[in-house]
Amino acid sequence: MTGLDLTSVQGDLHRWWVPWSLEYLDACESTQDVARAALRRGAGHGLAVVANWQRAGRGRHGRSWTAPPGLALLLSVILVPPPGWLGMLPLLAGVAVADGIEASCGLRCDLKWPNDVLVDDRKVAGILAERPPGPAVVLGVGVNVNLGPGDLPQETPATSLLLLTGKAVVREGLLGSILNSLDAWYGKALEGGAAVVLAAWRARASMLGRPVEVTGETVIRRGTAEGIDEEGGLILRYDDGRREVLLAGDIRLIRTAGRERA
Ligand code: BTN
Repeated sequence: MTGLDLTSVQGDLHRWWVPWSLEYLDACESTQDVARAALRRGAGHGLAVVANWQRAGRGRHGRSWTAPPGLALLLSVILVPPPGWLGMLPLLAGVAVADGIEASCGLRCDLKWPNDVLVDDRKVAGILAERPPGPAVVLGVGVNVNLGPGDLPQETPATSLLLLTGKAVVREGLLGSILNSLDAWYGKALEGGAAVVLAAWRARASMLGRPVEVTGETVIRRGTAEGIDEEGGLILRYDDGRREVLLAGDIRLIRTAGRERA
């Protein structure tokens, strides 16, 4: 298995707003745990932990996140945002990862609430935001880079950059692109506030305005995905006109005649 060489990435980082420092591991349980342990030891804003393989990668809702060694981009970054950013930061990450993939591979990315990055309605990247005690956020990003059809998880319709572009993608280039994009969006949020991030997120979310089904822990809700609020909640409008803001769940487009996208 070929590991990542971060030497070139170091030189490509702008470090406009985030003073990136990179830590690389061939294998670990989860980059989230490595970043959280570093945080406890005093690491702070801008640490980015990258692994070639995770033995126990995790996704949202306690799910696992798996990828064979050497094929995915597995990244956790520590950010210490200004007060009031906690709801918006995962949205910022979604926009930044989508932009980073687009800049690196030329693929048009869509965002699916709460924070999946899709291309052609298939998941290509996932984002996990964790809040350890204190002001820091640990943002985990997993990108299906060079996975083949047999490597992809079966539960969610998923794809990889390899399958989408027809060629192997250099993970170092993608990493640099995503970190530079995170940095740029961090600056845009500092300058323009949450509204700038929310507008960019909404512009990428093709499910907004369309009929959806949201599966929660115990209930399935159906309505129109009207928007997202500043905390990243989904605003769902029911047929009777009522609105509800949902904080978690799995969303799926309801197919209607003439609209065939899943
Ligand atoms: C999701 O879509 O459920 C979020 C997936 C996040 C996966 C990444 S891979 C790098 C980082 N380390 C982890 O254990 N999880 C995140």
